[in-house]
Amino acid sequence: MRDNGRGSAPGLANRFPPGFRFGTSTSSYQIEGAAAEDGRGPSVWDTFCEVPGRIADGSSGAVACDHYHRHAEDTGLLRRLGAEGYRFSIAWPRIQPTGRGPANAAGLDFYDRLVDEILEAGVRPMATLFHWDLPQGLEDDGGWLNRATVDRFADYAAIVAARLGDRVADWIPINEPSVVTLMGHAVPFHAPGRELMFDALPVGHHLLVAHGKAAIALRAEGAENVGCANNHAPIWPGSDDPADVGAAKLFDALWNGHYLEGMLLGRYSEDLLMLLEQTIREGDFATMRQPLDFYGVNYYNPMRIGAAPDDAPLPFEFRDVLGYPVTDFGWPIVPDALREWLIMFRARYRAALPPIVITESGCAFNTGPDENGAVDDQDRIDYYEAHLTAVAEAIERGVDVAGYYAWSLLDNFEWSEGYTQRFGLVHVDFQTQRRTPKRSFEWYRDLVAAHRRGS
Ligand code: NOJ
Repeated sequence: MRDNGRGSAPGLANRFPPGFRFGTSTSSYQIEGAAAEDGRGPSVWDTFCEVPGRIADGSSGAVACDHYHRHAEDTGLLRRLGAEGYRFSIAWPRIQPTGRGPANAAGLDFYDRLVDEILEAGVRPMATLFHWDLPQGLEDDGGWLNRATVDRFADYAAIVAARLGDRVADWIPINEPSVVTLMGHAVPFHAPGRELMFDALPVGHHLLVAHGKAAIALRAEGAENVGCANNHAPIWPGSDDPADVGAAKLFDALWNGHYLEGMLLGRYSEDLLMLLEQTIREGDFATMRQPLDFYGVNYYNPMRIGAAPDDAPLPFEFRDVLGYPVTDFGWPIVPDALREWLIMFRARYRAALPPIVITESGCAFNTGPDENGAVDDQDRIDYYEAHLTAVAEAIERGVDVAGYYAWSLLDNFEWSEGYTQRFGLVHVDFQTQRRTPKRSFEWYRDLVAAHRRGS
């Protein structure tokens, strides 16, 4: 442990070009609570949380950080932090309680006020339209397996953009389509908890077409900056055994390639084409390949993949990434892998690539308040310092990275981990809803301030 993370902030800040945007990130279901208020309909996550055993601590996002009622306090925290950007998401079931039909005025009013508050705090709003809380009414009709959901999503995008398009600076249609497809539909770790293995892939295809149609709808309402937020993980083979190498290549195509090649190039690899033959319709590739104003990358860690035994339901399996420190979640801390992935990404897709924004990066460390009430989370400071250094090195190697959004502003509902994993720059006491900025918050604030002074 270093004695004081603060000392390093100015030196690091100077490695980022003028105009580089620092920010923080959250999502609706993870922070808002107020699950049944002002006409909000149920989402797949409300339903999933009711299934015994799905959430580590048996909790749900019904209250979460109570952000729906405490948004003014939270935008006050954004002001104190001084970071230029804030990424949040809009809960589709607040806008259309069953996922279709006329807009719920109270839902739109909430985000209207929120956006104004973000702007009043001097912060640039970045809105995600779908961060996993699909209206249950659409799930009842097949959800993302049903192609009709694509058109419902485009309708919803148009409603939101018509109301907020004049003030939201940056738009992301869909957060992490790979996680929705693979963790929610191939295996049942996330809502809606299906277990379809390869039959989940149409979900990924529909999400890509929905991304494209939403981008078109957003721009038709005047949205200027439309991007994405794709989870990218370097995929390392379990060993140099050709079976492990092959399994890792296949998983890489499913996790990374599917979405980035779909969006950037409007094409799939041969194996995906074969698996999705029955699902792809004429014009889909052109729809999903909309010009992007920025390419959002959510980065956490590399994954090691090996070949599974012949009788396993899937041909690949997760192996441990050994030899690195880990977060409290057990995720390996490998900042070099972020630098290397960015450099590889740019070299491979250079002609098609807009500026990259790191739309999420962060870590779970569960440090709580000490006897004086302070939260001294040096581990998180070290994590951010190392990952920002990796980004700075990638920039120095010619990669155009325009921003970095820390996940997350607040400790929040970490999906199937419930409240057991804390990613926030601000500690939340979920009994009292008291917010306490951690030492990492101060470190990030100082970094941003030093960058502003230097640029
Ligand atoms: C990515 C997801 O977008 C976010 O919702 C989640 O909390 C973080 N990863 C950490 O798991």
